[in-house]
Amino acid sequence: MKGIFISLEGSDGAGKSTQIANVRQFFEDRGITPLMTREPGGTAISEKLREILLDKNNSEMSPIAEMMIYASARAQLVAEFIRPALERGEVIICDRYVDSSIAYQAYGRGLGDMVEKVNSYAIDGILPDITFFLDLDPAIGRERISTRAGASTPDRLEQEKMDFHYRVYNGYKAVAEANSERIAVIDANRSIEEIKEDIYDRLKRLCEEKGI
Ligand code: TMP
Repeated sequence: MKGIFISLEGSDGAGKSTQIANVRQFFEDRGITPLMTREPGGTAISEKLREILLDKNNSEMSPIAEMMIYASARAQLVAEFIRPALERGEVIICDRYVDSSIAYQAYGRGLGDMVEKVNSYAIDGILPDITFFLDLDPAIGRERISTRAGASTPDRLEQEKMDFHYRVYNGYKAVAEANSERIAVIDANRSIEEIKEDIYDRLKRLCEEKGI
């Protein structure tokens, strides 16, 4: 595949949006306009599924249904957007990808190996060239979200209890350890500038490897 695929992961409040803007800037500074997308979402169908997934009124959603809807949204994004864009040689920056399902559904919901199996159909062999995991204790993330200016009411996942968020966090750490060649663990309990420097170092190496 010709393009470059980058994903960012982390618990809610870990500073993903800020660093996504920095990753975008990194490429723009090199004269490349990256394609921005997010999960769940990024296509018309996947955005509809996002509404279902995050709707606070859907409290009765079963963990398996939830996992499969995330995987469906992903399958559509991969087929309609990610694969064609990578084949054209584009740079794609994705806010969350399959590692979110491993962390939230396999570990958070306790669904285990089934999640990876189902998602192997959804991703169709496409994994990011690099994934940045913004490593922040979820209690600090929650605190940041609640004190954020103009904070919106928590969505269905954000509403979960702290022990769920710690299971997700431990899931991320396990996935990062098992995929250390792809996932860069970034200490997110530092200044925005320090985190950005770390990310830029990794991106420079990736660009060298890719010859751009
Ligand atoms: P966002 O708020 O970062 O856009 O993500 C939406 C929420 O969905 C967030 O709480 C993480 C959760 N999520 C999963 O549980 N599984 C997944 O596969 C993805 C992509 C997100």
